[in-house]
Amino acid sequence: MKITQAILPVAGLGTRFLPWTKAVPKELLPLGNQPIIAHLVHECLDVGITDICFVISKGKEAIPQYFKIDPALEEELKKRGKFHLVKELLRYDSVNFHTVYQNEQHGDGHAILQAADWAGEGTIAILFGDDLFTGSKSALRQLIDAHSMLTEDERGAIVALERIPPEDTLRYGIVDVEKEHKSSPRLKKVKGLVEKPEPQFAPSNLGIVGRYLIPRSVIDVLPEVESGHGGEIRLIDALTRKLGSLPIYGYECEGTRIDTGHPEGYAKAVSIFSVEEEEE
Ligand code: UTP
Repeated sequence: MKITQAILPVAGLGTRFLPWTKAVPKELLPLGNQPIIAHLVHECLDVGITDICFVISKGKEAIPQYFKIDPALEEELKKRGKFHLVKELLRYDSVNFHTVYQNEQHGDGHAILQAADWAGEGTIAILFGDDLFTGSKSALRQLIDAHSMLTEDERGAIVALERIPPEDTLRYGIVDVEKEHKSSPRLKKVKGLVEKPEPQFAPSNLGIVGRYLIPRSVIDVLPEVESGHGGEIRLIDALTRKLGSLPIYGYECEGTRIDTGHPEGYAKAVSIFSVEEEEE
């Protein structure tokens, strides 16, 4: 299956990184020799995605700016003989970047809704900036491979899953599994989704992490989703709404996930990525 579009919601306030995030979006913090957001964009490019939509908030314009073509700078670098830098800058030349604003932070689903006019009719990848995966196969690649294990009738939405400690269910959307798919025990048909349940009410210990493949129809129901959870519109609620009419699968991704959205997680990511770069 060919997926060409990805939405990257990066409009969050980043309160766990204050006061740093008053001045610099957390997605531009460096990991190795690239900012976090570039790792996500590369994950998209590696699976053949050509159209990327950033959902940003005011003050986060430096994110799209990072990927913007800058002919004057390229010319200057050529004059100075710095062709290796020109090559690096041209890396994003063939990608169509688009930016939309989420003016008020009403949740991840609300952020995705801002990209509704941009999104096409096909399956769309959603990548949340805080979650990074290490391992030979990116999480997005794993979801796409899992999608191709499904028959036409089974195809709907797929969410990335991780087995989480039982005491952490309050931090994740948790899936209720109907059955494992015959092609892989990692691929699971989902019959229910519960947002951040208390451990005793969690239907499993499989938590949803920051990668999704969704059909356009999921975006279309976002305006109808009741804003629960403190007035926020969540993607998980749109998926729940579609459960009766759309097959939803979860794929337990291989590799280690790091949550870079808080200082300790970011520090862990820095140490992992600096080791990886040394090994390259
Ligand atoms: P988080 O819940 O981690 O929020 O969002 P945050 O603002 O980034 O960070 P904290 O919790 O205040 O420290 C998860 C992802 O969803 C995006 C964020 O940018 C992040 O990539 N998001 C969240 C939005 O784009 N808009 C929202 O309204 C909420």
